[in-house]
Amino acid sequence: MDRVMPGVRRKSAVSMMGVLLIIAVLTGALAWILIALPVATFAAKANHPAHFPIVYAHMVGGTLMLFLGAANLYIGAARRFFQWHRAAGYLYLGGGTLAAASAIYLAMAPTHERAGRIGLALLDGTDIGWSLAALGAAWLAAAAMAWRAARNKKFEQHRAWMIRSYVLAWAFVLCRLLATQPATGALGDGSAAVWLSWIVPFFVCEIGLQWNAGASAPARS
Ligand code: HEM
Repeated sequence: MDRVMPGVRRKSAVSMMGVLLIIAVLTGALAWILIALPVATFAAKANHPAHFPIVYAHMVGGTLMLFLGAANLYIGAARRFFQWHRAAGYLYLGGGTLAAASAIYLAMAPTHERAGRIGLALLDGTDIGWSLAALGAAWLAAAAMAWRAARNKKFEQHRAWMIRSYVLAWAFVLCRLLATQPATGALGDGSAAVWLSWIVPFFVCEIGLQWNAGASAPARS
């Protein structure tokens, strides 16, 4: 029988973080097929007549952000293919910076003539634009903190800020999947759904990251 010494925690084959990462990649792939593929293949060009090149650049940056972020969290945690960690990290930060900066522009600029639904309708001057721009700014701040910690060789802080930044990147997925649900309409014009789709996962992530720090000290014998 497989026994574990008292006080030693049994390591499961797949960690909780591994399961979350698999879910993030699968849902990310679904959102990519639904939202990014029509842009990548130019099928959605007519939806963005005034700013398609910026939307295209945003989609390319967002794709790097979504998939290289997940790959690099895996590389960092599993310590496999570690020789790729630095290159993938810089591509994640570069792609993400392009995606977030263009997101802030798209969220704030007067780009569409229709008003209403999440993300893809009129963003100009509406609350929804502010919620998306705030998400873009939050990602830039978390990524900058992760980069700074790595440069200063504070690897525990680097890991935590990279996880936070990836949760913010994944908020795109949650926001777009929520937008497909008619029940989301109960939240109003969509801006509440956008705020919730990044603040709730970010807060839950923070609880996860800080969980052990608040645990009771081991009893003295
Ligand atoms: C920081 C997270 C993100 C924010 C704040 C954000 C924000 C935005 C905004 C404001 C738009 C509206 C553009 C417009 O219609 O004028 C948009 C569209 C779009 N975003 Fe993002 N985005 C984020 C992440 C991503 C990611 C990770 C991807 C992955 C590929 C992505 C792919 C797209 C695509 C394909 C569109 C155009 C959709 C369409 O044709 O209707 N975004 N995004």
